[in-house]
Amino acid sequence: MNYPNVFIFDHPLIKHKVSILREKSTGMKEFRELIEEITTIMTYEAMREVELVPVEVETPLEKTVQYRVPEESVAIVPILRAGLGMVNGVHKVFPTARVGHIGMYRDETTLAPQEYYCKLPEGIEKKTVFVVDPMLATGGSACDAIAALKKRGVCNIKMMSIIAAPEGIRRLATAHPDVKIYVSTLDRCLNEHGYILPGLGDAGDRLFGTK
Ligand code: PRP
Ligand code: URA
Repeated sequence: MNYPNVFIFDHPLIKHKVSILREKSTGMKEFRELIEEITTIMTYEAMREVELVPVEVETPLEKTVQYRVPEESVAIVPILRAGLGMVNGVHKVFPTARVGHIGMYRDETTLAPQEYYCKLPEGIEKKTVFVVDPMLATGGSACDAIAALKKRGVCNIKMMSIIAAPEGIRRLATAHPDVKIYVSTLDRCLNEHGYILPGLGDAGDRLFGTK
């Protein structure tokens, strides 16, 4: 997966947590907590390139110029439903990020994504937007969500996914070469139903206990 805009984590702590996430006996509460924890670790890297502004700070000893991420400059856009599970993970390290929502579901036969909801914070076009979805399978949902954001004028977009199939990375990296893609784990392939192998099953169902 040699794309200049793709960053795949190779971190022992992430490997450890993802291995528990995959386990089919992992229950909803632990699954939700792990998604959050992995997202927090990923956020440190994904925010490496965000804009900093100089601010004057007075320490007990002297005045100094330091750097901060402007509170208004970051937004998180989860792809519903499963992306919701990642929002708290970003908020843990950057609590003032505004949140927009894009609803997408995959048609079970064609696997084509269908947009059913979109509500974004005011001024989103000026922000760095982190699109989050734990699963990047065919890449269709992420591609369409990012296209929807671009249509609304957003030009600084980063994508964070926990597990990705090579097919999804290829499609997204090619369709949106300007978007940096952060993936915690690259899996082997998709099965005939568009599920990632070895994967973790249906992320939305496991997060929300719907099955
Ligand atoms: C899952 C997942 C992604 C999408 C990935 O959502 O959360 O959004 O599939 O697949 P793709 O890369 O092939 O588009 P799903 O459509 O199952 O909806 P849900 O989150 O509401 O369960
Ligand atoms: N969506 C999921 O939740 N899991 C997969 O493996 C693929 C798409």
